[in-house]
Amino acid sequence: MADFVLRPAGREDFPSIRALIRDTRINPTGLDWHRFVVAVTPSGVLLGCGQIKPHRDGVLELASLAVQPQARGQGIARAIVLHLLEKEPSRPLFLTCRSRLGRLYRKFGFTPVSQEHLPPYFRLLSWLGNLFRGILDEQNRLLIMRLEK
Ligand SMILES: CC(C)(COP(=O)(O)OP(=O)(O)OC[C@H]1O[C@@H](n2cnc3c(N)ncnc32)[C@H](O)[C@@H]1OP(=O)(O)O)[C@@H](O)C(=O)NCCC(=O)NCCS
Repeated sequence: MADFVLRPAGREDFPSIRALIRDTRINPTGLDWHRFVVAVTPSGVLLGCGQIKPHRDGVLELASLAVQPQARGQGIARAIVLHLLEKEPSRPLFLTCRSRLGRLYRKFGFTPVSQEHLPPYFRLLSWLGNLFRGILDEQNRLLIMRLEK
């Protein structure tokens, strides 16, 4: 088990957050550090991060979940998700991920959302995802999930 603590991000964490998001190749937009929670070693090295991102229409998204490769498989993402879900009790909460990660999020109660129940932002994403559907294998297709309670 990795030795880590969770805390709200500070301005000084932003370069490491941005680098982790870039290196893990997840959505690099909307990275306002004020919204992030970070997992750090006792000496302050960034191990992982995540945020709840509000969209213009008020829809909330669990986003930017990433853990350094050498620190994976030790419960850091789980701790970050639980922390964020507790900190932000408003529901529903949406997220997007690759299909293969659906298993991770189902453990917290997220379920896949059908196209007709998507708010506009996620409907657009879904439409874009469908454009690339043919060239992505099943595991890497876009999945949009929602947590109701
Ligand atoms: C996905 C990621 C955040 C998981 O981080 P992690 O710290 O290794 O995850 P944890 O150890 O906390 O695992 C939490 C649970 O998710 C499951 N899980 C972890 N990685 C998984 C994967 N790639 N596929 C399916 N399930 C996975 C674990 O089995 C664990 O289940 P358990 O609680 O029943 O034991 C990490 O692999 C990562 O940063 N990937 C690259 C960025 C990314 O894809 N982020 C997600 C954007 S939607």
